[in-house]
Amino acid sequence: MSASKQPAQTPDAKHAIPSYLNADDLGPWGNYLKQVDRVAPYLGSLSRWLETLKRPKRILVVDCPIELDNGTVAHFEGYRVQHNTSRGPGKGGVRYHQEVTLSEVMALSAWMSVKNAAVNVPYGGAKGGIRVDPRTLSRGELERLTRRYTSEIGIIIGPNTDIPAPDVNTNEQIMAWMMDTYSMNQGQTATGVVTGKPISLGGSLGRKEATGRGVFVVATEAARRIGMEIEGARIAVQGFGNVGGIAAKLFQEAGARVIAVQDHTGTIHNSKGVDAVALLDHVAKTGGVGGFAGADPVQADEFWMIESDILIPAALENQITEKNAPKIRTKIVVEGANGPTTTAADDILNDKGILVIPDVIANAGGVTVSYFEWVQDFSSFFWTEDEINQRLERVMREAFAGVWQVASEQQVSVRTAAFIVACSRILQAREMRGLYP
Ligand SMILES: NC(=O)c1ccc[n+]([C@@H]2O[C@H](COP(=O)([O-])OP(=O)(O)OC[C@H]3O[C@@H](n4cnc5c(N)ncnc54)[C@H](O)[C@@H]3O)[C@@H](O)[C@H]2O)c1
Repeated sequence: MSASKQPAQTPDAKHAIPSYLNADDLGPWGNYLKQVDRVAPYLGSLSRWLETLKRPKRILVVDCPIELDNGTVAHFEGYRVQHNTSRGPGKGGVRYHQEVTLSEVMALSAWMSVKNAAVNVPYGGAKGGIRVDPRTLSRGELERLTRRYTSEIGIIIGPNTDIPAPDVNTNEQIMAWMMDTYSMNQGQTATGVVTGKPISLGGSLGRKEATGRGVFVVATEAARRIGMEIEGARIAVQGFGNVGGIAAKLFQEAGARVIAVQDHTGTIHNSKGVDAVALLDHVAKTGGVGGFAGADPVQADEFWMIESDILIPAALENQITEKNAPKIRTKIVVEGANGPTTTAADDILNDKGILVIPDVIANAGGVTVSYFEWVQDFSSFFWTEDEINQRLERVMREAFAGVWQVASEQQVSVRTAAFIVACSRILQAREMRGLYP
């Protein structure tokens, strides 16, 4: 029987929720499933493969015991989820956070599949995480935990199979320990097993800034299409880490004003604009934006009511909800974070005429330069920062233009358009490869 004649799915498959999730509270995975459902009518004959996207290919849950500095043993739960590998090896970051759940890592891995396809880099989607607040660990404990986790997931990661990278609370030092641990276990140095490494270990110039730069490039493209100038635009940013901090700095360099910032330590406001560079310095010294002298402290809830031209959620999932979406006064939401907007909030923003540029395109700059890093590692030939930034900008602009065109043609949101482009690519690969056996 040819592939096109096979039944698309078993009769009960459509609503099947895996036994390992709480069907009453699916968490971020539930949000992702709703986004996928919205794309189904636009996939034509490929929709018969859609169930593929509703089931992660492979999930590994690991126990990571380490000896703490006080001599006791502590156990941490870790995950690595490979959502889809139809288009290439798994690719996606590793998150250290006390509230990481399997549902969250599943959703993040799925968004990686969609993102990688949306910008057309030859990867599938994966993600990892450890349930830990890394701020409670000493440097030695953090290293031991990272090494044990890497060793535990070492059976499914590798330069050709699944390539981790930094995410919330992980950085180039953690990538260096991961690369070293994997290499020690393999008996040879394998720089290509992770991206986001230090430059001295095969990292790429421009990688640290890449996600924030991509956010800026995509926001500029979106602004241009609705006739908004970046110069003088008012920017509000939630999350002032790698993504939010760099994006804010680039907006400031382009003449925009960063008027409100929120992170886990506080919310600050200055209608004349805060100095993003001084704020980055303050965060580097103190760990957060709270207490910054160049702005007024405000209540956390007020952040969403501050009028802006561009709002950039760049912290965690489910920040823009049915509760605060009605209060938001901005023209464009550019999702630096993964999954910051619930489906219900997305509809509210849409009804208010606010343009939402979704995570799967807006924050794809990081994985794009991760791809460049991986290519450079394989060829042992490294590019200049200018070359990297130019190539990044080209990939982001072209991907955005393609998605924008689909949104106009099909009269759908930019998110649904991005999902149409990406899911079509993934499911075409699925169909051409066929089912094994
Ligand atoms: N780093 C990357 O290359 C990359 C790539 C794509 C997407 N992302 C996504 O961007 C987001 C931020 O990642 P990052 O790498 O900048 O992480 P980071 O750890 O560097 O920064 C996270 C920021 O979020 C803030 N934050 C945490 N909890 C908060 C809360 N409850 N309220 C307000 N702010 C809070 C922190 O204070 C910090 O400023 C995540 O959703 C991540 O998945 C990151």
